[in-house]
Amino acid sequence: MSQQLEQIKALIELREKARLGGGQKRIDSQHQKGKYTARERINMLLDEGSFEEFDMFVTHRCTNFGMEKQTFLGDGVVTGYGTINGRLVYVFAQDFTVFGGSLSETLALKICKVLDQAMKVGAPVIGLNDSGGARIQEGVNALAGYTEIFQRNILASGVIPQISAIFGPCAGGAVYSPALTDFNIMTRGTSYMFLTGPSVVKSVTGEDVTQEQLGGASVHTTKSGVAHFAVDNEVDGLGLIRELLSYMPQNNMEEPPYVPTDDPIQRLEDSLNEIIPDNPNKAYDMYEVIGATVDDGKFLEVHKDYAKNIIVGFARFGGTAVGIIANQPKVLAGVLDCNASRKAARFIRFCDAFNIPLVTFVDVPGFLPGTQQEYGGVILHGAKLLYAYGEATVPKVTVTLRKSYGGAYCVMSSKHLRGDINYAWPSAEIAVMGPSGAIGILYGKEMAAAEDPAAFKAEKEKEYRDAFANPYNAAKYGYIDDVIEPRNTRFRVIRALEQLSTKKLSNPAKKHDNLPL
Ligand code: HXC
Repeated sequence: MSQQLEQIKALIELREKARLGGGQKRIDSQHQKGKYTARERINMLLDEGSFEEFDMFVTHRCTNFGMEKQTFLGDGVVTGYGTINGRLVYVFAQDFTVFGGSLSETLALKICKVLDQAMKVGAPVIGLNDSGGARIQEGVNALAGYTEIFQRNILASGVIPQISAIFGPCAGGAVYSPALTDFNIMTRGTSYMFLTGPSVVKSVTGEDVTQEQLGGASVHTTKSGVAHFAVDNEVDGLGLIRELLSYMPQNNMEEPPYVPTDDPIQRLEDSLNEIIPDNPNKAYDMYEVIGATVDDGKFLEVHKDYAKNIIVGFARFGGTAVGIIANQPKVLAGVLDCNASRKAARFIRFCDAFNIPLVTFVDVPGFLPGTQQEYGGVILHGAKLLYAYGEATVPKVTVTLRKSYGGAYCVMSSKHLRGDINYAWPSAEIAVMGPSGAIGILYGKEMAAAEDPAAFKAEKEKEYRDAFANPYNAAKYGYIDDVIEPRNTRFRVIRALEQLSTKKLSNPAKKHDNLPL
């Protein structure tokens, strides 16, 4: 064999060794836990045969605790680029078979290289996390490595989409990299995220808690809101990443992909003409409105199990990707509270950063009153939502279906927050507050003195309803551009989005804003 062929053979052998990560025994152990390896995950995520790997021959440089005798090619993370539906993406997948995927100086450098490269060319980054945290033997170098990654996550925020999947442990400061990215996906039963694990919790607070109770997928998708999606398994998680990216541009200078649809633009949806109950206190399901109006009824919901009184997610109207924000009358009457405000604000800011138009469906009785909300900072959280809508420069189309009262009217993409096209259904009620509260304030004394207080109240409420509980008062002032027939909503929204497709609007120059955090 020639010397060159010998060298090629040695390369192939080295590659094979690198592909084994921490060795077959550890790969088997990973499989036994119901988890895939880093390379298997990347292969399932990317278009077949599209993966190009970086830094396969990197090894750690640590000499503490005899570490120099234990090296693995690739050092605990697989990095590189490939395509998803033909579009370029960068990817890193922590390899739990090598020192538990723990983060070393060199492992961090590999992730930083991917982030730097993605920023240079303007393509999304996907991080698949499965790691025991900072590599203990490396001390401060591991901490430095984490922080270098955080810094890059911060600079990339709003420039390229960043998506994190948590497919195993993600503990300590390591959680902050996913937290800095745009979307977090967690697998049920095999992933967890927390700052300090159950044993530290026990020693500091005395609290007995399991990993799952402390930071499992259900905790972070229902209670904390840290994660946006919980999935049953890794295959579903990887499929979800592919689907999510289909709604996003490659970077903040591009538009999201247009996907032609066979769903007729002029499709009339008769069910919407009868969806609003006669009794204003009765609920209907906002998912029906979304499903009936978007292309093919397809809606990718974000934060589905968190603050269910507001719905956010991606869909398309006539092929154009949009972010939908909709109050849900079926949950807490669709009221705005701390969590709903934060959830929607974060989603709106993502859409605005990446040129995704906003479509808002309004049916909101107001902000939730009470000490719990006030102590929880509903003023600040509500301000976040107000801020997010007000600073957004993407096309904003709003349809008011029923209630739009008080501060919630102002906040929910009103004309006064640079709403571009604001429609209302004939059932819309736009006023400072609902009839019952208003009559109590305006006629409290008269009502108490009335011969028949109930009849007096009913009469005054009717008067109020006739005057205010309709869309025409707002339309009279041009705050509503048109009152539309509900079954025609799809067509009207698509026409509005078409009209706005060349919209240009910018905010005043500033170093950065001061969002009420
Ligand atoms: C070095 C580590 C490691 C770590 C795991 N390993 N975590 N090596 N540094 N942080 C190694 C193990 O020694 C083992 O090596 C292999 O990875 C698999 O670990 P196991 O414990 O056998 O696996 P498992 O039973 O599944 O338990 C997984 C685990 C546990 C729950 C993640 O390993 C664990 O608790 N690790 C420590 C977690 C932690 O406290 N990290 C520091 C957090 S603080 P062998 O050779 O046997 O395969 C932090 C600060 C970051 O990260 C701050 C950033 C700002």
